[in-house]
Amino acid sequence: MATAAEDTVETVVSAAPHPWDVSNPDIYVEDRWQPIFAEMRATAPINKVTGSAFGDYWNITTQKPIQHVEALPDIYSSDVERGGITLFGELENLPKELQRQTPSFIAMDRPEHTGQRRTVAPAFTPGEMERLSGDISRRTGQILDDLPRGEAFDWVDRVSIELTTQMLAILFDFPWEDRRKLTLWSDWASDPAIINDPERAYERRDHMREMAAYFTDLWNDRVDKPEAPDLLSRMIHSDAMKDMDRFTFIGNLTLLIIGGNDTTRNTMSGYAYGLDKFPGERAKLEADPELIANAGQEIIRWQTPLAHMRRTATQDAELFGHRIAEDDKMVLWYISANRDESVFDRPDDIVIDRDNARRHLAFGYGIHRCVGARLAELQVRILLEEMAARRLRVNVAGEPERVPSCFVHGYKRMMVELSEY
Ligand code: HEM
Repeated sequence: MATAAEDTVETVVSAAPHPWDVSNPDIYVEDRWQPIFAEMRATAPINKVTGSAFGDYWNITTQKPIQHVEALPDIYSSDVERGGITLFGELENLPKELQRQTPSFIAMDRPEHTGQRRTVAPAFTPGEMERLSGDISRRTGQILDDLPRGEAFDWVDRVSIELTTQMLAILFDFPWEDRRKLTLWSDWASDPAIINDPERAYERRDHMREMAAYFTDLWNDRVDKPEAPDLLSRMIHSDAMKDMDRFTFIGNLTLLIIGGNDTTRNTMSGYAYGLDKFPGERAKLEADPELIANAGQEIIRWQTPLAHMRRTATQDAELFGHRIAEDDKMVLWYISANRDESVFDRPDDIVIDRDNARRHLAFGYGIHRCVGARLAELQVRILLEEMAARRLRVNVAGEPERVPSCFVHGYKRMMVELSEY
């Protein structure tokens, strides 16, 4: 049960990483983050780590204070100029010329955030989801029908990446044959190990430049054409975005590419891995396809594809008894809040008919809550429906290879075999 600790717990990190320095990617690669966060939730749900590789930061590990922080965007800023929305946002290890982050509306405060979000939001209305759903079902079915039977294959590559990449290509009306470039760019853009590595930073910049050049060509091609429903066309023709400088334009594209890629991809892999781990729950789902919508939410909760978002205090503040100073980094650990024992019974288990699965914070909370959440839910639901329609089951063959990151929480490779039930 989470308790509200009154005193700030300060931990000093010197040579060895402190166990509560959860920026350490090893704990995610080795899948041993669960007891560390459970200990924090039980003893000091809000605590401060000092001297980590990314400087000092606050760990916020339960639902209530995360929602509190996200509900006060003027006090707890997302602004890229203050470090942005990831723990590793300062880029201090890099040469000066590479330290400038690309701005995008996830890393902006009001009022700029409001206008830019409004531009892309109409691409994700229930009506748009309805329009896209037939196509998503058809493509998902086709991918499943092409998978090998009785032979191991990499689920991440063949299903999760392929489905999410196809979806993005459709959203942007991106040239189909080049769609895997979206995956490549997203991987280079979002991996903290790469972002902060001075050795690989120039290679990363080259990939980002290639992406910028590619999208600039698409922009130039569409700018004189009438508005179409794809996201690029919407951005080009919107008041909030049409005069955007190139840097911000690229930043927003990167946001949408990462937003729609790493996240839904890792939910789809989490589905395969998680149901294999909880065969009793899988049996429930196989017996009753009515449970699919709720199962999708529960898998998103259990997987939590983005482990955290970060805010920076714009002023001194008080947070449930803790003194927060201006410029303090606040790390909102969704991965932990989604295992908050005061909200979810048996939080480490998948329970596909859990009655409050929807209360997860995997999409965040408040003004920045994920704008693509409906699309992600739709894609996951359709994958489960198409699997059920074919009576297909995924059997995981060996432990997956995981992403070494405290941000994207997911799988690089997972060998599986399909069977029929
Ligand atoms: C399961 C899949 C997904 C998860 C777990 C996820 C998670 C998140 C989270 C945690 C945030 C930040 C919320 C906050 O700061 O409070 C966010 C924002 C965002 N997401 Fe997603 N996301 C997913 C799918 C998508 C998809 C499919 C797209 C678009 C194609 C997308 C686009 C965005 C954008 C543009 C934002 C910025 C919103 C803003 O700042 O107003 N996401 N997402």
